[in-house]
Amino acid sequence: MFFNIKDWGELMKLHTIILLLISLVFTSSLYARGETSTIPSEIFKGCAKCHGQNGENTAYGRAEPLMGQEVEDLVESINFFKESEFGKKGVILVMSKQVNHLNEQQIEDLAVYISKLGR
Ligand code: HEC
Repeated sequence: MFFNIKDWGELMKLHTIILLLISLVFTSSLYARGETSTIPSEIFKGCAKCHGQNGENTAYGRAEPLMGQEVEDLVESINFFKESEFGKKGVILVMSKQVNHLNEQQIEDLAVYISKLGR
């Protein structure tokens, strides 16, 4: 009477539930990182930690507020940080890490989103 069918069935049920829980935790943590999101408002949640909910902050007094900036200027700044990668030290490194995973389209969409903040 080591494995009677009933116990084995219960075991498999438990196994399925555990697998389900693990995959739930895994996928939700993926979304929480924001890296996989292509939605500007989702991406900007990460930016808002330093730049403010409406881009009104100066990010440790190092940046111009993003609020009110033109799309082209935002795209230019973001690409500058993206391209500077890890070549430069200090604060630029902070921004480089924020934007180096974004593609051209995401940067454009994000810039359009930011340019409308607070209006
Ligand atoms: C950890 C804090 C932090 C986060 C998060 C962050 N930034 Fe920044 N950002 C900075 C700092 C600091 C500077 C100034 C960098 C410098 O000039 O060396 C800056 C500068 C900028 C500038 C240039 C502003 C100007 O005109 O002076 C833009 C545009 C910008 N960030 C956009 C973004 C976007 C878009 C995101 C999200 C994808 C983001 N930032 C996330 C800290 C942050």
